This record gives sequence, structure tokens and C-alpha cells, in this order.
Amino acid sequence: MGRKKVTVVGAGNVGATVAELVALKELADVVLVDIIEGLPQGKALDMNEMAPVEGYDAHLTGATTYADSADSDIVVITSGKPRQPGMSRDDLVEVNKKIVRDVTEQVAKYSPNAILIIVSNPLDAMCTVAHKVSGFPRNRVMGMAGVLDSARMRFFLAEALNVSVENVTAFVLGGHGDTMVPLPRYSTCAGIPIPDLLPAETIEAINNRTRNGGAEVVKLLNTSAWYAPASATVEMIEAILKDKKKILPCAALLEGEYGYHGLFIGVPVKLGSNGVEQIIEINLLEEERAALQKSANAVQELVDLLKL
Ligand code: NAI
Ligand code: 2OP
Repeated sequence: MGRKKVTVVGAGNVGATVAELVALKELADVVLVDIIEGLPQGKALDMNEMAPVEGYDAHLTGATTYADSADSDIVVITSGKPRQPGMSRDDLVEVNKKIVRDVTEQVAKYSPNAILIIVSNPLDAMCTVAHKVSGFPRNRVMGMAGVLDSARMRFFLAEALNVSVENVTAFVLGGHGDTMVPLPRYSTCAGIPIPDLLPAETIEAINNRTRNGGAEVVKLLNTSAWYAPASATVEMIEAILKDKKKILPCAALLEGEYGYHGLFIGVPVKLGSNGVEQIIEINLLEEERAALQKSANAVQELVDLLKL
């Protein structure tokens, strides 16, 4: 049996970094697809030339059409415009809807059995587009946001506690926007709940910094982040390709879970070779549930704008 195959659509900052990490970890061969002639081919060639030094045999192909991507196990969709300074994720909805729709049509045609991981923003709404256009079952369409938002929170907590990032777990649920819901009660350091270790004001400051984590980087770089977003995406890819049954916060289509129907939103899911194998419902306090509702409302407003 040959290696697994991962297609990454969009060979920009996030997409190319996903391709690089998948190759470095030898998880799969990678096909990079973009509309800019030369860009995916050039980056794929550069990464193939890096292989002898790094010692990986994963092979990269760049293309502006989808034939080479046929029968991928996973397709990551990063194509779209990133946020400019002062621009909200929501401003992106119109332009990225069209891009994600066109890309998903091609992907579904060439890789009808693939698992889709959406990265393009606004994330939860773009998952809805990909799900509708592909016609794939809900276990094969998911969005990356919660792993990134939780990683940001883990980093801020580890800094505040002056401990290894490896000691810290964190959970951020809800939509990938300013209304996301950091859950300190479900976050720990070496198994100890965070509220037992840090004062409430420090935790609140970290929650806020987490909610603004994307904007903080945009302000510095004049474009959105890509290293942590790519790492987060590759953690999901690895969980699926290795059938790890790993529990990670991901955008998943809820069909009654948490009281929502037909809405993509970030919740803890179990990722394995069948994609989203389970949606895990955790108990929420009244204020946490209210925060999730607010976040769900914000996602629903964007989905309504899509007029699908
Ligand atoms: P980028 O501009 O560096 O790359 C996007 C690439 O998509 C470009 O190379 C562009 O040519 C390509 N593209 C545009 N239309 C296409 C089409 N129809 N088919 C194929 N390729 C197409 O942008 P970056 O920084 O990589 O971000 C990509 C997207 O991911 C943005 O929408 C951004 O907001 C989002 N994002 C989401 C995150 C999340 O947590 N879900 C985190 C970081 C970024
Ligand atoms: C981020 O959170 C912009 O969604 C992107 O960095």
C-alpha cells in the first residue's frame, strides 16, 4: 500500500505550512493546489528539495487543477482571502463563500471519499458551505479553529504559570470569532483545574487575550497567523490518518447535540479514521451555556448571510 494522500487547497501562508508539516512528519504525500500558476509547483519543488536534508520520503506535487489530487484521503481547504487589519472575519464571508464553493465542487468530484478539513474564514460559515456543496456526511466535514484557539490559551496559561506548555490543557468552544468560549473549568495544569491555580482576574485576562488571539497577530503582521494555524490543522490530520481517536475541539455539524440543529460550531469531538466519530457533550454551567448560545447566534447570523 502506498502512502496516504493529503491535498491542500490554497498554497499560501497556512496551506504551504500545512504541506511542510505533513511532509516533515511523513504523514502522507501532499498535493498543493492553487489558482496562481507556478506558486503551488514552486513551493512543492522547494519542499521536495528539502526532503534529502530533512530525511523524509513524502512527496509533494503542485498543481492548478485537481487531477493530481484525485482520491485524496484528506483535503484541507485554506483557499481564500486572509484578514486585513481592521477587517473582521465576518467581512470575509462573501468573497470566501464563492471560493470555498468552487473549490469544494472540484474536491468532491475528484475525491468523493475524502475527509474535508476547512480552514478558510469565517470558519464555521465556510464549513456550512463545504458541507452543503459536497453533500458529504457530517462525519467527513469539519473545521479547524478550536485546536488553534485552545493552543493560544494553553500558551498564555503556561506563561502565566511559568510551566511547560506540555503541562497545560485548555478547551475553547463555540464559533471561531470574538464570541468564542474559553472554558477555564475544563482547562488544567498537570491535571489540576486552572481556577485552583490562578486568580480570577488573570484567568479573565487570558480568556480575553484568547478571544483576540487572531487579531493580535493580524495587528503585528498585517495579515493573519499561519504557524499555529498550520500546526493545529496537522494535529487533526494526524489524528485521522493514524486513527488515534483523539479528542480535540473542532467545528462539527450539530444535529441536536448541545440543543443545536444544523449548525457548525466548535465542540469536543473524537477524531479517527472515519473523521468526526463522536461529538462529546460536556456539562456546562448556566453562564457557559449562555456564552455558547451567544456564539451560536453569531455563527447563525453569518450562515443566514450566506443564503444557501
Ligand atoms: P494566503 O493569502 O496566504 O493564501 C490563500 C491562498 O488561496 C492564496 O495563495 C490564493 O491564491 C489561494 N486561492 C484563492 N482562491 C483560490 C481558489 N479558488 N482555488 C485555489 N486557491 C485559491 O492566506 P492564508 O494566510 O493562508 O489564509 C487562508 C485562509 O485561512 C483565510 O481565509 C484565513 O482567514 C483563514 N485562516 C483561518 C484560521 C482558522 O483558525 N480557521 C487561521 C488562519 C487563517
Ligand atoms: C486566526 O485566528 C485569522 O482565524 C485566524 O488567526
